[in-house]
Amino acid sequence: MSQEISKREQFSGKLGIIAAAAGSAIGLGNIWRFPYMAGKNGGAAFIILYILCIALIGLPVMLSEFVIGRRAKKNAIASFRRLAPGKPWFIVGWMGIAAAFMILSFYGVVAGWTLEYIFKSLTGSFAGMDPAAIGKEFGDFIGSPVRPVFWQVVFMVLTGGIVYAGIKDGIEKYSKILMPLLLVILVVLDVRAITLAGAGDGLAFLFKPDFSSITAEGFLAALGHAFFSLSLGIGTMITYSSYFDKKQDLATTAVQVTVADTLIALMAGIAIFPAVFAFNIEPSAGPGLVFVTLPNVFLQMPGGWIFSVLFFVLLAVAALTSSISMLEVMVAYFAEDLNISRKKATIASTVVATLVGVPCSLSNGVMADVKIFGKNFFDLLDFTSSSVLMPIGGLMIVLFVCWVLKEDAAKDELSNGGALKVKFFPWFMFAARFIAPVAIALVFLNGLGLLKF
Ligand code: TRP
Repeated sequence: MSQEISKREQFSGKLGIIAAAAGSAIGLGNIWRFPYMAGKNGGAAFIILYILCIALIGLPVMLSEFVIGRRAKKNAIASFRRLAPGKPWFIVGWMGIAAAFMILSFYGVVAGWTLEYIFKSLTGSFAGMDPAAIGKEFGDFIGSPVRPVFWQVVFMVLTGGIVYAGIKDGIEKYSKILMPLLLVILVVLDVRAITLAGAGDGLAFLFKPDFSSITAEGFLAALGHAFFSLSLGIGTMITYSSYFDKKQDLATTAVQVTVADTLIALMAGIAIFPAVFAFNIEPSAGPGLVFVTLPNVFLQMPGGWIFSVLFFVLLAVAALTSSISMLEVMVAYFAEDLNISRKKATIASTVVATLVGVPCSLSNGVMADVKIFGKNFFDLLDFTSSSVLMPIGGLMIVLFVCWVLKEDAAKDELSNGGALKVKFFPWFMFAARFIAPVAIALVFLNGLGLLKF
């Protein structure tokens, strides 16, 4: 791909931009990771912290990424080089690429699970099972050495294939239609879940906070998940916004993406927790929560298997529009700066991320006892990326915009050179300068046990 800005591909228009950015944000994070994180960290209190993190930290970080990416019109590393020549800020971009590899590796594994569940729903394999049997089925599946790896490879090939096809034909086309459909099916699931006998305890778990259940680690998990869910801190949004056109209203886009992402997560929570309590599933069951809970709900619906197929298809699509955004971070860099062809860069990155994903998958079975820092391979990659690299990346990104790029440049970019009114600008600067950095630093140090309150 050419180095020249004029030849860079762009998203085609407003809807395409929002669909692509929301497609990146909305994914397994909302439907798989959010509920189990909330379940592990005490429910409602976690959710309140999470929403605070989204509003006070996530939104300013997203805006900062947009400012950097669209101003520089470059990949995550070259953007820092262009805006701060000769300074070491590009290291932030490098950290992002490393994190993107880690996330994509385990992301592909979980996305592979959704493919298996499409298959299982089609063949009606849950019919007549009780909740315990459904739980065992899941455990047996992820613990097996072959099937999950097979589906992981299938998913990664799909991801690579779409990125191979390029931005406009690949990324955009798939996001536009299918995300709204996911919303529709979540509404149906919510209604079914709320009307289950015994749903009340689940709703209380979701909406009645018990702050004594919050730990320092829980706070860090809420922050890390805010970054994870909004695709922040590793240069994804820098890369995507480098394809935005100069008329796009960055602030409105960021708000729309953030609201949509949060809404989908909450709706997933409403679909899952009433059922968790109705079927006596452990809320802190961990990564299997969605896969163990929802099949029980589908069994309680007339024509449930159709909903089940549809749901897991849409979840797989949501995962795809996210995984391509991670792959795009790497490909944009390798293709533009290392002068490798876009196609070769795509193949190489896909292969590496797939290979790293294999031990992630096996850590649920044959490699379960291989522990590094007390965590299996899967959890280690998840923790290192979302609780360490993303918060540090997010911190660096807001600091960069405030102290290196400076106020005038940020205002110029957010107002499209003065064309838009930016009344919110002082708030943005305040959040980016003070709230976000201080909060990230405190939560981070406290969560790692380096600082105790
Ligand atoms: N946000 C996506 C999700 O919720 C995952 C994702 C895509 C991501 N790109 C990212 C996470 C970049 C962190 C960084 O499923």
